Amino acid sequence: MTTIDKTVVVLGATGQQGGSVAAALRADGWNVRAVVRDVSNHGARSLSAAGVETVRGDLGDPESLRAAFSGAHGVFSVQPNSGQAGADVTNEDEVRFGTAVADIAERSGIAHLVYSSAVTAGSTTGVDHLDTKNRIETHVRKLDIASTVIRPATFMELLVTPEMGLDGGHLSFLMRPDQAMQFIAVRDIGRIVAAVFGSPDRYAGRTVEIAGDALTGNALAEHLTQAAGRTITYSRLPATLLAQDEVLAKLAALVDDGRLAGNANLDALRAEFPFLLSFDRWLAGPGAALLDEALRSTD
Ligand SMILES: NC(=O)c1ccc[n+]([C@@H]2O[C@H](COP(=O)([O-])OP(=O)(O)OC[C@H]3O[C@@H](n4cnc5c(N)ncnc54)[C@H](OP(=O)(O)O)[C@@H]3O)[C@@H](O)[C@H]2O)c1
Repeated sequence: MTTIDKTVVVLGATGQQGGSVAAALRADGWNVRAVVRDVSNHGARSLSAAGVETVRGDLGDPESLRAAFSGAHGVFSVQPNSGQAGADVTNEDEVRFGTAVADIAERSGIAHLVYSSAVTAGSTTGVDHLDTKNRIETHVRKLDIASTVIRPATFMELLVTPEMGLDGGHLSFLMRPDQAMQFIAVRDIGRIVAAVFGSPDRYAGRTVEIAGDALTGNALAEHLTQAAGRTITYSRLPATLLAQDEVLAKLAALVDDGRLAGNANLDALRAEFPFLLSFDRWLAGPGAALLDEALRSTD
């Protein structure tokens, strides 16, 4: 491994995206400093064991961010979102956290800020927990700092969470059975972010929508059936549920009009980032244990 004598501060490093980014940056030889709320918890200790420096900090505590960013080259910024299961943040918290990270990065002389947004951020959607990212992106672009915005598609990991009910042999999601939606493996977000930090001249000032595959509901069912070795069927979330749940109905409409389905140029992305995993390769690799866990209750 070649070593790079520069430090990138990673937020959310005990979580999905930050964890993937920390691992990919370490693999590329960067020094990585993770801002964690509790340096003694399991996630923080795993980071330390992988050679990541952990420092105590909180997105709601600007002084801790200033201390963490001191002397660093880059910052990877991601925030929790009120739409996540079990989230303890409001939409205003997310915007406050995301703008504070960018402001403090600018004032700390950070050479490159990478902000992880979401695929829907190109327009106002009317879904408050999605539009937070628009507001943070707008703020980041106003600052005097070299920045890159990545807009990840929906995570492949979301499809195999236990709540999706795969143990019952069925998956329901937002798109119609014959409608394609784009997805990305969390592992690949980290690899792309590491590539972005590695080539600042190429990526500074850019907004990059990222995805690794596009799948219809029927294709998801075929791949899941193949990987699980048992039949998994697919249908769109029931119309009765969409009629009762305004946010889900808006999300389904955003899939229908393409904004949440994603519009990344997959051929170009695969040429630029050859490691990008298709869904079937993800299921055979990083997703295998997650799928196994999701199916386990009927074993
Ligand atoms: N799911 C999708 O398909 C999808 C697609 C695109 C974008 N997104 C976006 O991805 C973001 C979430 O990323 P993720 O899934 O990687 O997160 P995650 O796995 O839920 O992890 C959240 C991370 O944030 C940290 N954190 C939470 N509150 C904090 C605070 N006050 N101060 C410092 N750190 C704090 C947590 O650290 P602790 O160890 O301290 O808890 C943890 O490391 C959301 O904004 C979501 O909208 C999701």
